[in-house]
Amino acid sequence: MRERRVLMVASEAVPFAKTGGLGDVAGALPLALASLGHDVTLVLPRYRGATGGTPAGSTQVSLGGRVFDVAYAEHALADRARAVLVECPDLFDRAELYGVGAHDYPDNAARFAVLARAALEYGAGQHPAPDIVHAHDWQAGLAPVYLRTLFAGRAGIAEAAAVFTVHNLAYQGLFPPVWMPALDLGWELFGIEGIEYWGKLSFLKGGVNFSEMVTTVSPRYAREIQTPELGFGFDGILRRRGRRVRGILNGIDDAAWDPAADPHLPAPYGPDTLDDKRLSKRALLERLGLSAGDEALARPLVGMVSRLVDQKGFDLLAALGDSLLSLGAAFVVLGSGEPRYQEMWQALADQAPDRVAFRAGFDEPLAHLIEAGADIFLMPSKFEPCGLNQMYSLRYGTVPVVHAVGGLDDTIENWNGRTGAGTGFKFRAYTPEALRGALVKALAAFEDRAAWRAMQRAGMSRDFSWSASAAAYAEVYEAAIRARKRARGK
Ligand code: ADP
Ligand code: GLC
Repeated sequence: MRERRVLMVASEAVPFAKTGGLGDVAGALPLALASLGHDVTLVLPRYRGATGGTPAGSTQVSLGGRVFDVAYAEHALADRARAVLVECPDLFDRAELYGVGAHDYPDNAARFAVLARAALEYGAGQHPAPDIVHAHDWQAGLAPVYLRTLFAGRAGIAEAAAVFTVHNLAYQGLFPPVWMPALDLGWELFGIEGIEYWGKLSFLKGGVNFSEMVTTVSPRYAREIQTPELGFGFDGILRRRGRRVRGILNGIDDAAWDPAADPHLPAPYGPDTLDDKRLSKRALLERLGLSAGDEALARPLVGMVSRLVDQKGFDLLAALGDSLLSLGAAFVVLGSGEPRYQEMWQALADQAPDRVAFRAGFDEPLAHLIEAGADIFLMPSKFEPCGLNQMYSLRYGTVPVVHAVGGLDDTIENWNGRTGAGTGFKFRAYTPEALRGALVKALAAFEDRAAWRAMQRAGMSRDFSWSASAAAYAEVYEAAIRARKRARGK
C-alpha cells in the first residue's frame, strides 16, 4: 500500500461542529486513514464555539472581486492527521452552521466557496503536495471544480486527484446563476456536463462531475441513486460515471459508542451483562418524567434520535398518529427540525404523558441514553444514504426497526422467527401499514425473552468499525490517482 497525502474538505466534523452524520464521518475517517499510514489534513470552518488549534498562517481569498481575510489554525488529531480550522468570522462566526430554522443563510454560496478556496490554498502550500483532494457533500463541492480551474496552473496541487463523497443527494447546493461570476466560475462551466442543474448552479454537481471518483456511504445507496426514484435528477449523470461511483459503508466510532464504557450511562453493560441495560432504561424513563415502575420497565420502549424531516419517515408516523398509542409501547423521541413534526410528537406526549416523551433540540448525552435505554430503535426513513443510529443501536443491544432502504438495508438483517437469525426488523413498502406491521412483529418478539436476547447479542457481535471502510477509501484513492494520471497522459 502506498501512503498517500490527503487534503479533506468538509463543512462539519466532530469534535468541532456537528449537525448530523456527516460530522461523525468527517471526524472519524481522517483518524482511520491515519492509522493505515496515510497523512490527512481535514479543512473545515471555525464556527462559533469551535475551539482549539494554533495559528498556522493566513491568506486572502478574492471571490468575484470581494476579498476575504482568512486565517488558519491547526489542531493535531493524531500522529498523521490534523484539522485546519478556517477562520473568517464574517462568514462563519454565526449562531448556526447553515442557517436559522428553515432559512439557509443567503450567502451560503460564498461561505462554502471560500471554504473550498481556503482549503485548496492551504493544500497548495503543503510540501509535499496532496495526492488527493477529498470533498464531502455539496458544501465542499466546489473544491474539485476550483482544483481543475483556478488551481490548474498551480504546480503540486494541480496534479492531485479529486474524490467526492455524497452523504446525501437530497441536498444539492442550488443557487441562482447570478452567483457564477460572483464565485469566479466561468460561464463555460454552466452546462449539463459542468455545474448547471435545471437552470441553477449546483455545488453537488460540481463535486460529482469534476472528481475522478465519486463515493457514497453505502453500497445499496450507490445503486439507488442511479435510479430515477432516488436519484433526484442525478441518476443519469451517476449512471454515466458507472465504475467511477462506489458505495462504501460508513463505520462508527466504537470508542464513543460503547455501552461498556459510555460516560452518559448510569452503568456499563455488554453482551454478557445485558440485565444491566435495564438501569439505563430506568434512568431514561426517570430523566424524561415517564413512569419508571416495574410495569413501565417491563413495557417495551421505542426510541428515536433524528432530524425531524421527511427523509426520516415522520410522514408515516404522522399518518399513524394516535394509533401508535394502541401498540402498547412507550416512546421517547429526541429531535429537531420541522415544527409540524415537533407538534405531532408533543401532542402525543400530551395525550399519554406517562408513556410518550418528546424532547426538541440537539442533546448528545440524551442521544446516548436513548440508545442504551430503549428496547427498540425506530428508523423508518424514506431514504437513508447510510444511517449511523441503527449501527449504534446494534452495538447497544437495542433492536432496530427500519425501512429496508439504503444503508439501513445493508446493515440490518431481518429477523427470522423460525430460525431465530437476524438483528432487527425491516419493512419494504414505504407505507404506514408496513411500518406498523414491523413494529407489531418487533413487539411480539420482545415478549419472547430468549429470542430477544439472541437477537440483541447477534446485533452486538456485528463489526462496524472504521478499519474496513478506511481501507476501501484508500483503494478509491488509488483508482482516482490512476484516472488522473490517464487524464494527464502519463
Ligand atoms: P443524518 O446525518 O441524516 O442526520 P445519521 O444517522 O447518519 O443521519 O446521523 C445522525 C447523527 O446525528 C447521529 O450521530 C445521531 O445520534 C445524531 N443526532 C441526530 N439528531 C440528534 C439530536 N437531536 N441530538 C443529538 N444527536 C442527534
Ligand atoms: C447523511 C445521511 C446519512 C449518513 C450521513 C453520514 O446525513 O443522511 O444517512 O449516515 O450523511 O454519511
